Amino acid sequence: MAHIQFQQVKKFYPNGFVAIDDLNLEIYDNEFLVLLGPSGCGKSTTLNMIAGLEDISAGTLSFNGQVINDVSPDKRDIAMVFQSYALYPHKTVYENIAFGLKMRKFSNQEIKVLVDDAARRLDITKLLDRRPGQLSGGQRQRVALGRAMVRRPSAFLMDEPLSNLDAALRISMRAEIKQLHQNMQTTFIYVTHDQAEALTLADRIVVMKDGQILQIGTPDEIYEHPKNIFVASFLGVPQINLIEGNLMEEGGQLFFQSAGIRVNLAGVNQSNLSKATSSQVTLGIRAEDVLSVDPSNGADVFTGKIKSILPIGSDQFLEIRFSELDHKSYFFRVGKEYRNVIDGTFNFQMNVNRLHIFDTKTTLSLI
Ligand SMILES: Nc1ncnc2c1ncn2[C@@H]1O[C@H](COP(=O)(O)OP(=O)(O)O)[C@@H](O)[C@H]1O
Ligand SMILES: [Mg+2]
Repeated sequence: MAHIQFQQVKKFYPNGFVAIDDLNLEIYDNEFLVLLGPSGCGKSTTLNMIAGLEDISAGTLSFNGQVINDVSPDKRDIAMVFQSYALYPHKTVYENIAFGLKMRKFSNQEIKVLVDDAARRLDITKLLDRRPGQLSGGQRQRVALGRAMVRRPSAFLMDEPLSNLDAALRISMRAEIKQLHQNMQTTFIYVTHDQAEALTLADRIVVMKDGQILQIGTPDEIYEHPKNIFVASFLGVPQINLIEGNLMEEGGQLFFQSAGIRVNLAGVNQSNLSKATSSQVTLGIRAEDVLSVDPSNGADVFTGKIKSILPIGSDQFLEIRFSELDHKSYFFRVGKEYRNVIDGTFNFQMNVNRLHIFDTKTTLSLI
């Protein structure tokens, strides 16, 4: 139960570095909000300000309508889980989870009820007598979650909690954290630099860069309608294909033109294209937005050479060069039926409805 609001918040570190510049963000009660961005963009700083571990240089931070800039961390009713689990090595799992409750003078009986409940939800009941050294990374992370859970906080803060785990475990822990959010009915604020984690977990994603918010939206909004080239590139694996070129008109029709590529933009929403600062635009095509290779006909075909085929089990990526002039490789995801095609020139038909067009100079989306 926490509604958290940043209003014009700034954070300067003592050396004068501006880590957060004019942050305006409303976090709704019970939502799962993910702060996503590259290392150093200010995610942890933002989370630490919510926790009260970093003070706020300017602006206001409020919880449920009350300004809490100067409220100490222990009075904020939040729990935090870090990347390093920081468990007490000499205490058992039970004692680790119980520790905070003991400090707050809960009775042994109350503690047992809460610890047993958390252990059951996290499936670590059998581990309660072990010490952290006898646990795997994933089990330790669950204990750290359990320790935060028993406090029944009104907000749960997590700073890259899964980044020490191996890939398979990360995926199963994502599912568990999502389940935990559903069970707990509490505001979750989760920091990660991993776009897949953000897309999987979030109700809303906040994309940050250099101490600023670039875009806030649901995972679908951010993935389908990135506001600029940075956001478009940060989400999606492999990265969105970006082709620099020009807008041009011919016979009343609008085209995108680049070395070796010409796309009729009739199928594209053109209402914002007039906002372009010049004719220089960047076309964005996601790897999955190729409809077919070597179509028998079709107006919007890109002609190119397949440079390599990169199978990934379920399907494969094609590395494509569109022109001898442009030495850049582009990557598209296709089915396995194209496994043996490699020599020669092919026609690639793109899903024109899903193309992105950015102003090359401002990098802002024009559709
Ligand atoms: N104590 C500090 N003093 C000076 N600069 C800091 C301090 N802590 C963090 N920074 C800087 O603030 C920026 C944001 O840091 P941080 O919030 O930790 O980024 P993130 O969690 O997104 O990787 C970084 O450039 C970092 O170097
Ligand atoms: Mg960080």
